Amino acid sequence: MIGEENRLWRWTWLLALSVFILAATTGALMRFGLLKGFPWGLQYTNVRHAHSHLMYFGWVTPALMGLMVTWLPALTGRPLSALSQTRFRRIIRLVLLLAVGAYGAFLLYGYRPAQFGSLRLPLSTILASLNMISWYAFMAVYWQATKGAARISPLRLWDAALAFMALASLGAWGVAVTAVFRIQDPVVSALLTHLFLDLFASGWFVLGVLGLASAANPRASRHRWAAKSESLLIMGLPVAFLLSIPVNLLPPFVRLIGSLGGLMVGLGLWGQIVVLWQGAEKRWRPALLFLSLEATATLAVTLPAIARWSERANLRISYLHWLLLGFVTLGLVAAAQTTWGEEFVKGRRWLVTAVALLILTLIPLSNVWPAAWHGRWTMQLAAWVAFGPVLAACGMLIGGINVYLGWVRSRRLDPAQNS
Ligand code: HEM
Repeated sequence: MIGEENRLWRWTWLLALSVFILAATTGALMRFGLLKGFPWGLQYTNVRHAHSHLMYFGWVTPALMGLMVTWLPALTGRPLSALSQTRFRRIIRLVLLLAVGAYGAFLLYGYRPAQFGSLRLPLSTILASLNMISWYAFMAVYWQATKGAARISPLRLWDAALAFMALASLGAWGVAVTAVFRIQDPVVSALLTHLFLDLFASGWFVLGVLGLASAANPRASRHRWAAKSESLLIMGLPVAFLLSIPVNLLPPFVRLIGSLGGLMVGLGLWGQIVVLWQGAEKRWRPALLFLSLEATATLAVTLPAIARWSERANLRISYLHWLLLGFVTLGLVAAAQTTWGEEFVKGRRWLVTAVALLILTLIPLSNVWPAAWHGRWTMQLAAWVAFGPVLAACGMLIGGINVYLGWVRSRRLDPAQNS
C-alpha cells in the first residue's frame, strides 16, 4: 500500500514512536523507583499518571490517527482534499504537543494544582481537557472527510471507535467536575474513571486497531463472522467497563448488566480473532494472541467469583498490559509495517520478543505466583526487562528516521516527486 501520498504521513509514526519511548522509559524507571525510591522528589502516583496518560494521549492516539488518515483515500475511493490534509496535519501535531505537555504536568503535580506565585492552577486537568478538545477536532474532520463514503468494515469500526472515544471523554470530564466540586463518592469516582480508562482503551484503541487490521486485510472482512462479531463488540462495549469496577462497589443488578456487556465483548473479540487469524498476514498473530488472552479474561470476569479472585490475585496491571502493550502496541506496529513497508518499520520481531518477556515478568509480581517464590528478585527482573521494549523501539525509530530522511533528501533532489 505504499504510494507517494501515503509516505506523507510517516512523520506521525516517527513522532508517536518517540513518545512511546519516553512513556515506556518512564514505565521502566518507575519499576526502578519502586525498588530504590524516586529521585528529585518525584512521587510514584504522579509518575504512574504521567506514564499512562502519555501512553494513551501521545503514543496510541496519534499513531492510530496517522494510520487512519493514511488509509482513508483507499477506503473512501477518493483523495483527501488539501483542506482535510492541512487540518489533519495540524490536529495530529497539536495532539502530540498537548500529550507531552500533560505528561510534564502529571509528572510534577499529578492531579494537584500547580502553584505559580499566588496562582494555583489545575495544570494537568487543563492540559488533559485541551487534549480531549483536539480529539473532538479530529472526529469532526474525519466525519467530514468520510461523508457519503460506503461504510465498509474498517470505516464502521472507526466510526464506532471515535464514538466510544467521545463517550469515554464524558467520564474524564466527569472526573474533572467531581474534582472541582469536591464530590468524593467512591462509586461515582470509580464509574467515571473506568468509563474513561476502559472505554478509551477497549473502544477507541481496540476498535481502532481492529479497523486497521480489517483495512490491511480486506479478505478477512468478507468472512461471514466479521460483521456479526463487530456488532457484538459495539453492543457490549458501552456497559462492559462496569466489569473493571471492584465487585463489592456495584449493586448485583448493575454488575449483571456489565456481565451481559462483557459476554458480548468477549464473544465479539473471539469472533474477530478467528476472522483475522484466518484472513490476516502472519505479522498480526502476536497481537491476536494477546487479544485472545484479553477476550478470555473478559469472558471469565463476567462471573463475580472469578472477578473477586482476579482482584485478590492483583492481576490488574498484567491484564492492562496484555491489552495495551500486547495487542494495541504490537497491532499498531503490524499496521505500520503493512502501511509503510518493512524497510521503514524494522525490528518488529525484537519488539514482539521484548513485549512478551516484559509481560511474563509481571506474573511473579502478582499473587498467582507462589508466596514462597516471591522476593526482591521479582522486582529487579521486572525492572531490567522493562527496558527491552524501549531498546527495540529505539532501534525501530532510528531505522525509520534514516529511511524518512533519505526520502526527504530524494524529494529535494527531484522536485518532480513533489507533484
Ligand atoms: C515498555 C512498556 C511499558 C512499561 C515498562 C510499563 C510500566 C508500567 C508500570 C511500572 C506501571 C505501574 C505498575 C504498578 O503500579 O504496579 C504501569 C501502569 C500502567 N501502564 Fe504501563 N508500561 C508499559 C507500556 C504501557 C502501554 C503501551 C500502555 C498504554 C497504551 C500502558 C498503560 C498503563 C496504564 C493505564 C497503567 C495503570 C495506571 C494507573 O493505574 O493509574 N503501559 N505501567
